[in-house]
Amino acid sequence: MIKTIEDLKDLQGKRVLVRVDFNVPLDGDKIRDDNRIVQALPTIKYLIKAGARVILFSHLGKIKHKEAPEVVEKQKAKNNLRPIATRLGELLAKDVTFVDATRGEMLTAAVSALKDGDVLLMQNTRYEKGEEKNDPELSSVWAALADVYVMDAFGSAHRAHASTYGVPEILKKEGKEVAMGYLVEKEVKSLNRCVFVKDEDRPYIAILGGLKVSDKIKVIESLLHKCDKILIGGAMAYTFLKALGKEVGTSPCELDQLDYARKCYEEARGRIVLPVDSVVTNEFEGWTEKLMTPDNNIPEGFQGMDIGLKTIEKFTGEIAHAKMIFWNGPMGVFEQTDFQHGTRAICEAIAKLDNCFSVCGGGDSAAAVKQFGYSDKFSHVSTGGGASLEMIENDGKLPGIVVLED
Ligand code: 3PG
Repeated sequence: MIKTIEDLKDLQGKRVLVRVDFNVPLDGDKIRDDNRIVQALPTIKYLIKAGARVILFSHLGKIKHKEAPEVVEKQKAKNNLRPIATRLGELLAKDVTFVDATRGEMLTAAVSALKDGDVLLMQNTRYEKGEEKNDPELSSVWAALADVYVMDAFGSAHRAHASTYGVPEILKKEGKEVAMGYLVEKEVKSLNRCVFVKDEDRPYIAILGGLKVSDKIKVIESLLHKCDKILIGGAMAYTFLKALGKEVGTSPCELDQLDYARKCYEEARGRIVLPVDSVVTNEFEGWTEKLMTPDNNIPEGFQGMDIGLKTIEKFTGEIAHAKMIFWNGPMGVFEQTDFQHGTRAICEAIAKLDNCFSVCGGGDSAAAVKQFGYSDKFSHVSTGGGASLEMIENDGKLPGIVVLED
């Protein structure tokens, strides 16, 4: 059993440490997409209303502590959470105290100064080299700040780090309450439906795209046990096509995955559906020739950039019958207008469905859904790319969520 925040009693005056995922895309200190901050608001607002003293912590970007000190300093400067605190304050219409520290007197003093309903955000958890190592000393420093812990960072729930694993583990041992926030609750509910499949949700169709087969081996295997069909587009489709003896030109291909792809395709017995044509160009950047192949062979010197029209028809025909859809990975280079047709067509086909539970599993596909304006047409758009895939791979078990169990 995992507690939800509504199971927490008497939050008035309690120091509630909330792990959020504010790992948002930045251009300098300009936030390109604040969706993850917006999605964390229901939990934060609930805690404010309940009179809790809210202490938020999150990672942002990557900091490689093994690099030279000046490189680490640059990475820290690039991944400073201050602009996020400002944005959060705007969204809450309330002061948010930003503490430019991850431990020490400045942080403990700021926590002690909190009044009921106040909100504080501490600096990037990855400024600490112990964060990604789940260092026990660091976990105990952070655990000492809290009376209660709330996990609302779904995007980081596949990481067993100090902030996502070590801290709740310690607090539980100390007899303190740990719970999941509204965002994690919603994500778990939606993704679990794609993992523990009910008859009424069939046909269940998965749509996978993106660059590499090797990144998605476990997810393909898991989905083959759960889904009725898997439609594969994007660059990873070329590895499958090459494995089946098709010509793929200069398309990205993982030669070390050909045997796996062939075996997987054969074992699926018709349940893996591959592109039957492609939009191809002579170069990736600065291309001068673009054509649509008549079949699933790509001419020499050309590479696949998007699925073709016949593939769109085939894929959307499958989608039209679906009662449940899990989608992860774009069908082509959707960031460029010339090659977004396939990904957009998938969005449109899903948007048209009335009676279908549709989940977009974060990352690039969620960015595409947002870019094309279909976010509200999906039953659920996950805030976690890696986390939603691991949720499928590991049958609903992520370390940052398992650790919350009573
Ligand atoms: C994400 O953006 O997928 C999450 O915030 C996790 O980030 P990470 O891959 O750097 O751990």
